[in-house]
Amino acid sequence: MRKILVTSALPYANGSIHLGHLVEYIQTDIWVRYHRMINSEVYYICADDTHGTPVMLRAEKENISPEQLVENVHKEHSKDFLDFNVSFDCFYSTHSDENKKLSESIYKSLVKSNKISKKEIEQFYDSQKKMFLPDRFIIGDCPKCRAKDQYGDGCEKCGAIYNPTDLINPISALSKTKPERKKTDHYFFKLSECSDFLEKWTTSGVLQVEASNKLKEWFKSGLEDWDISRDAPYFGFEIPDAPGKFFYVWLDAPIGYMASFKKFTDNNSLSFEEFWDKKSEAELIHFIGKDILYFHALFWPATLEYSNYRKPTKIFAHGFLTVNGEKMSKSRGTFITARSYLDEVKNTDYLRYYYASKLSESMEDIDLNLDDFVSKVNSDLVGKFINIPSRTSGFLSKYFENKLTNKSDISKDNGIEILDKILQSESSIIELYEKRQFSKLTRFLMSHVEELNEFINNKAPWVIAKEENQSLINSDLHQVCSLCIKSFRVLSIYLTPIVPELSTNISSFFGEEVYASFSRAQDDILIIKSYEHLLKRLEKDDVDSMVSANLNN
Ligand code: MSP
Ligand code: ZN
Repeated sequence: MRKILVTSALPYANGSIHLGHLVEYIQTDIWVRYHRMINSEVYYICADDTHGTPVMLRAEKENISPEQLVENVHKEHSKDFLDFNVSFDCFYSTHSDENKKLSESIYKSLVKSNKISKKEIEQFYDSQKKMFLPDRFIIGDCPKCRAKDQYGDGCEKCGAIYNPTDLINPISALSKTKPERKKTDHYFFKLSECSDFLEKWTTSGVLQVEASNKLKEWFKSGLEDWDISRDAPYFGFEIPDAPGKFFYVWLDAPIGYMASFKKFTDNNSLSFEEFWDKKSEAELIHFIGKDILYFHALFWPATLEYSNYRKPTKIFAHGFLTVNGEKMSKSRGTFITARSYLDEVKNTDYLRYYYASKLSESMEDIDLNLDDFVSKVNSDLVGKFINIPSRTSGFLSKYFENKLTNKSDISKDNGIEILDKILQSESSIIELYEKRQFSKLTRFLMSHVEELNEFINNKAPWVIAKEENQSLINSDLHQVCSLCIKSFRVLSIYLTPIVPELSTNISSFFGEEVYASFSRAQDDILIIKSYEHLLKRLEKDDVDSMVSANLNN
């Protein structure tokens, strides 16, 4: 049996969860649920990423402590994930004792491995706010194209990448004053010494081809040492033996994966070491967005390697979400929060299904076209899938007291081969889940759904029901409808990781427990409950209200 520790990237604690984030949490959740259903020993871990300047400043603005802010956001995020049926085994926080201990001990190991150095650097300092300014808090004219109001780390107009000290007419975004240059000591991870190890590791099959190509570009331009410290005031962990110096948030954030799992294993009497020891045979799989590949494919494995832990088995990167073909935008109302979706659209299976229908194993961006969303969900889930029981279960209630025939009694003429074919396709379905080819998978499952609908059209049970010949009703009508309902159930089981809530409702329609394993597809079910509509149509009005709710918030 496979033992797998799965993570999604840790959402920043300085903002709300939005539909862009959910691409990742839904993709990961589907994959994890699929593994549970084939009985892998799988744990799904996440946490809030709490440290850094933005959290500190937002807390200041709200007149609360950063700890309080982080706690409030944790409640909000936890509820969002729960309501989207993102089934973390543990959703923790990087601002935890576990993370502090692990970060300190990993840092000390890095020192021991001679991978940390100290260097004096010069940075912009806001003397009014009495703090060094992160790149994003310095604004000025692009040194290359002279565009106004560009950030310190790069120009959004011409794409140039530069240092904040290169900006023309720099000002502090915090106090709007001209920042001064000031010298200070920083700690560095000697990443430049890790090129050989990292080049080997990143080409060993842990990454998607596109990702490893991207990395080749980075290797070509050479790896630079990584600045892992920030000066006070900073919300984070103080570096051991370095008063006033704090770990940069990206040092302790991935360690948060370990810390969250530590919390989980402590609470559940499981072994932490079994998953993190250098010699661990368990798999460690990170789902991330393509924007944070650098951190996960370079800094993180290097950190693990030189502190004597195991490295990731796979890193699965996905693309970015666009809405109606464009970057999510507050002014267009397409920067859609998870909460506004829950308030207005409510049913999260719609979005889970839609994302699944778009997702693949690649790093390509995916588009949420809101009109297409409505029509796809209504056509596939309501018009085709739920159409199967709504067209056939009534006859089973009316003529057969909700009882089904035995599977073995259904003749070839009454469609048994359709059900057999679905059951035989289990290995293909598993392969598609395993490879994260969810778009192909939904198309494949829908092809079976379509075949069943055609079968219903051809057999026209409403015509058989009008037969004078009672024995035809007893045999054909019963078999045709039983076949459809049994096939519907099997397809529901295979769709469970994608639409867990709908699947739960379907399992109660059969008077069963929730479907926790694909092996349940083999059971021959002989009774249903009277049919009540299982899924209502998605209304365009609700989607419009959701967009309105996000206008300029
Ligand atoms: N805190 C870091 C991750 C630390 S992991 C040790 C971070 N946080 S984030 O909140 O900005 O993003 C969390 C995840 O959501 C990232 O994997 C990111 O790529 C993903 N997404 C954020 N916006 C997204 C889209 N618009 N589309 C798709 N994924 C997006 O990065
Ligand atoms: Zn520019």
